[in-house]
Amino acid sequence: MKNILVTGGAGFIGTNFVYYWLNKYPQDRIVVLDALTYAGNRGNLSAAEKNPKFKFVHGNILDQPLVESLLTDHKIDTLVHFAAESHVDRSIHGPDEFINTNIVGTHTLLKAAKKIWLDENPRPHRFHHISTDEVYGSLKSDDPPFTENTPYAPNSPYAASKAASDHLVRAYHETYGLQTTISNCSNNYGPYQFPEKLIPLVIINILNKKPLPVYGDGKQIRDWLHVDDHNLGVDLILNKGKIGATYNIGGNNEWTNIDIVKTICNLIHERYPNGTSAHGNHPQTLITHVKDRLGHDRRYAINAEMISSALGYSPTESFETGIRKTIEWFLDNEDWWRRIMDGSYRSWIAVNYD
Ligand code: NAD
Ligand code: TYD
Repeated sequence: MKNILVTGGAGFIGTNFVYYWLNKYPQDRIVVLDALTYAGNRGNLSAAEKNPKFKFVHGNILDQPLVESLLTDHKIDTLVHFAAESHVDRSIHGPDEFINTNIVGTHTLLKAAKKIWLDENPRPHRFHHISTDEVYGSLKSDDPPFTENTPYAPNSPYAASKAASDHLVRAYHETYGLQTTISNCSNNYGPYQFPEKLIPLVIINILNKKPLPVYGDGKQIRDWLHVDDHNLGVDLILNKGKIGATYNIGGNNEWTNIDIVKTICNLIHERYPNGTSAHGNHPQTLITHVKDRLGHDRRYAINAEMISSALGYSPTESFETGIRKTIEWFLDNEDWWRRIMDGSYRSWIAVNYD
């Protein structure tokens, strides 16, 4: 039985992780620590909050005394660290929060974990750090995908802050013997993804008959993985991963942005052939090429051979099934995204884009 502290559990991947874990391991206890930034939504966890094995704590990972008390009071043996500022565009407009949360926040968690798990009363434990393929930088079209040995070359402030946090986690293992693992995953999609990211943004803009902003030529490539398959990889690492190791998680599923956008347009058109979206026209008519992102990475791709061969990892969702389910989720949960669109997201867009 595990007692797990999940940081950032009210965000996109953290929420999906909580439901994945409570469903698969009903005997385990989960405490979520989340600061409820613009990206966090306690309502995501309303079904989990009915479960006596689950507890939500509103607080910041920068609050070391709070983290220490959670580790002690809830007899936490496993920490899964999702909390982060996660949007590249925001990191370009305002990097400071990314340095605070992603670097200083991760270091605060490491200090708390070292104190409680190693210094005060040594006990078995695991610190799992969730990271991204963006730490490896950008690939050329004929480069082989990133492996765990690809040198770090982060290009955005977001990627640089995640790279720094990965190095700190590694250092706490090498220097103090903290029992750590790290996963670097490719782009996720699925339920509860905040509608500033490409896939939910496109779905929602089609439904709202708004332009679909494609940065530059739209030929940039991302390697998309359904969020449940990310969490499956984290599950395998927590249960079978080697202490001190880093694992890449990916689905071997490279797409250009423009093809992703067109695919979503086609699937929604198939769903509403009489055109309840996009003013009765095919949604592709909403595609609008806009100014490119600064320092835009051209291509990401993950080689997931290590987690596949060492831990038996294999994604369960094809892109075809995963993207259809995701579109259905957004169609079924209009209240969820309308509330978000009416709130802080719009004010940030207004400041930075209007
Ligand atoms: P998200 O932005 O949807 O959620 C982040 C969560 O962290 C929110 O609930 C927010 O309230 C919380 N948070 C932020 N700052 C905090 C702080 N100081 N203290 C406590 N809580 C705080 O992010 P996501 O997409 O779910 O990403 C989760 C993790 O996975 C991140 O570490 C990200 O770098 C990583 N990752 C994401 C992707 C992806 O495609 N989304 C891919 C690979 C890795
Ligand atoms: P995003 O979902 O922000 O993830 P990341 O930057 O972490 O890869 O963006 C995915 C890709 O889609 C990226 O190449 C940027 C591009 N993009 C657009 O073309 N238009 C948009 O409105 C957004 C949000 C992203």
